[in-house]
Amino acid sequence: MRWLLNLQGIHYMTTRFGWKSLRGRAFDARYQDGQWRFDDGQEAALAVVVRQYLQGGELLLMGCGGASILASLSDSHLVRVIGVDLSGEAIQVASRFTSETVSFEQQDMMVCRVDGTFDVILFSESLYYLREDRQVQLLRRLSSQLKSDGVFVVTQAHLSRHNSLLDRLSDQFDVLENHRMGPSDRWVVVCRPHGYHAAYDRYDCGRNSHDT
Ligand SMILES: C[S@@+](CC[C@H](N)C(=O)[O-])C[C@H]1O[C@@H](n2cnc3c(N)ncnc32)[C@H](O)[C@@H]1O
Repeated sequence: MRWLLNLQGIHYMTTRFGWKSLRGRAFDARYQDGQWRFDDGQEAALAVVVRQYLQGGELLLMGCGGASILASLSDSHLVRVIGVDLSGEAIQVASRFTSETVSFEQQDMMVCRVDGTFDVILFSESLYYLREDRQVQLLRRLSSQLKSDGVFVVTQAHLSRHNSLLDRLSDQFDVLENHRMGPSDRWVVVCRPHGYHAAYDRYDCGRNSHDT
């Protein structure tokens, strides 16, 4: 079964269109075969982007895989990290980072519930496993879990995928960064919902004037 799920076409179809447990097994197969390690040095470039927005140290990793970015973020940057992944194998690999501040949950990111708000919600090579019409829908749902100055960071290999996401985002999100990550074929977009700051400032002003 594992070799079958690892065949390129089958892997593509099952991870995009399979039912939840089949998708999880298809992702498991990639980790079991050692094809997905993602410790290739590109995480350091991504960590540079993420670190800038991590003022409060709260990070949500969606489709965390082995969470290898954590090797490039020092403990002093991290107050609370939650990693979510559908694959039990991924969670097992990621668990090497488990600590008082870092935890992992096996959940489907499309429907998962996590507590609290975050400085950064990161989708590193994971958002494109969702159907296109669900990607922005998920970002909208998770917007309430961003802090007032929080951001989404989304990386995608392939410029065409990246550009397609940018098109679909632009009427609802402010794009703060949009560039290639170092010399790799990965692209990164940093964004937050339109008017997010403005809404917060209005609230803050109201509260201050009430206080005085
Ligand atoms: C290409 S790997 C990237 C892993 C990791 N983010 C990284 O950059 O090293 C994609 C990951 O997304 C996870 N994933 C895909 N769809 C998911 C979903 N609906 N819910 C949770 N995780 C999902 C897969 O299990 C896999 O671990």
